[in-house]
Amino acid sequence: MKKTAWPAALSVVCFCVYFALGAWGSRFFPQQYMSYLLALCYGFLGIAFVRLCTHLFFDVMYFKRTGREAPDLLRIMFSLVAYAIVGTIILASILKYNVTGLLATSAVLSVVLGLALQDTLGNFFAGAALHIERSFKIKDSIKFGERVGEVESVSWRTTTIRTTNNSFLIFPNSLLARDLIEVFPYDGLHQHAVEFSASYSLSPRTVIDVAKKVLRDLEDVSREIEPRVRIVRFAESSVDYEALFRMKDYMKVVDVKAAFRERLWYAFYRDGIEMPFPARHVLFERIKPERRPQAVCMPDYRCIIDGIDIFQSLTRSEKDALVARNNVRIYAPGECMVRKGEDGDSMFVIGRGKAEVRVSANGTHSTVAVLETGSYFGEMSLFSGEPRSADVVALEEAEVLEIQKPSIQALLDENQSLAETFSKKVTERLAGLERYADSEEQETILVEEKHLLARIKSFFNLSGGG
Ligand code: CMP
Repeated sequence: MKKTAWPAALSVVCFCVYFALGAWGSRFFPQQYMSYLLALCYGFLGIAFVRLCTHLFFDVMYFKRTGREAPDLLRIMFSLVAYAIVGTIILASILKYNVTGLLATSAVLSVVLGLALQDTLGNFFAGAALHIERSFKIKDSIKFGERVGEVESVSWRTTTIRTTNNSFLIFPNSLLARDLIEVFPYDGLHQHAVEFSASYSLSPRTVIDVAKKVLRDLEDVSREIEPRVRIVRFAESSVDYEALFRMKDYMKVVDVKAAFRERLWYAFYRDGIEMPFPARHVLFERIKPERRPQAVCMPDYRCIIDGIDIFQSLTRSEKDALVARNNVRIYAPGECMVRKGEDGDSMFVIGRGKAEVRVSANGTHSTVAVLETGSYFGEMSLFSGEPRSADVVALEEAEVLEIQKPSIQALLDENQSLAETFSKKVTERLAGLERYADSEEQETILVEEKHLLARIKSFFNLSGGG
């Protein structure tokens, strides 16, 4: 409003001077200059009027409708046109200029300028159209032909986008206004598809369930809309699937697809699902199909079990059975092996790699413990039947032996005193967790500690359980 006040004030002053001179100063102020003075009065008034309109249109109405600042380009264009109209009216009606002649001259000038600045003006108006139509905003990602990037800035001549290589592409606005662009709004979800293949021997339900779980566990994939997985074709050596998922930041799509493929390999491998490859079944001898590729060297779980405190009192054959009856699983770096709050009826012995036990509160993670090869996790839920107490995330590729409830049940049926050993260990770990819990959770932990032994006994139907 300050910008409007001073030309308005000047116009008032000019008008006062004009009327004063009209009444008393005709003797010493030549009459032929009075019209110039009047033009000056209206000139200031015109400036005040244009500024007031600009303020009302852009700072009030535009802002109210769109919730955003009006682009500078629009303000400049509006002001230029409005000043030209005000100037023409003053010239024609006060100074009695022949504006038709002036317009003819300026039309010739405009043609000359227009031809000289054809491209620049084209870009200018294209930029204005992009602003008015609000085709895209800063931070949106756009795809133009083969080029993809995040919009960094839109000037009166060019639009700059940042590519995934962190380089900049600068497009003349006229190019963007003319051709087809695909816009991925920064704050909206968009769907993406990633193809993968699975063997013919697997039922589509199995593959679809595994792939969906992998998608759900990926950090950047939206949980608002459930991912979908569908068959796209029956290929020569595989069934080809397409996983459809939604996410916000388009610039991360390639990374998310790569993470999906990586995690899928691990998930398939864990479940003993073979990745398909071009197959020619030319069999010369009977071979025993290997469940797992040979490249990975298997840790000696029997030896690892020997070193685990809670299994110290087991007999040789019990330890042998523990290894023989359970399966080995492999996880990708960063993959969540156990998620807080989920039900769990198995525990894991780490044969290779490291894992982090973490709890989250208010969007921040706290590390409760880092577990190395030879350590174990997941026993708290397995022994007590409670939901998982923390997330356990693989810090590097991790291979684990997953011990299921029936194996522990068999041990406890043979030797009920094991329940006390288990209860002691869980109590120790609960105490470690207590530090990271809020007051409500701490109370639950205390109650849990108190009744732990009874709970284990009742969960495994042992005598002395509640
Ligand atoms: P569970 O509750 O089944 O799932 C999360 C696992 O994190 C839990 O079992 C333990 O194995 C592990 N865990 C929880 N607290 C600790 C701790 N203080 N130290 C080491 N491991 C823990």
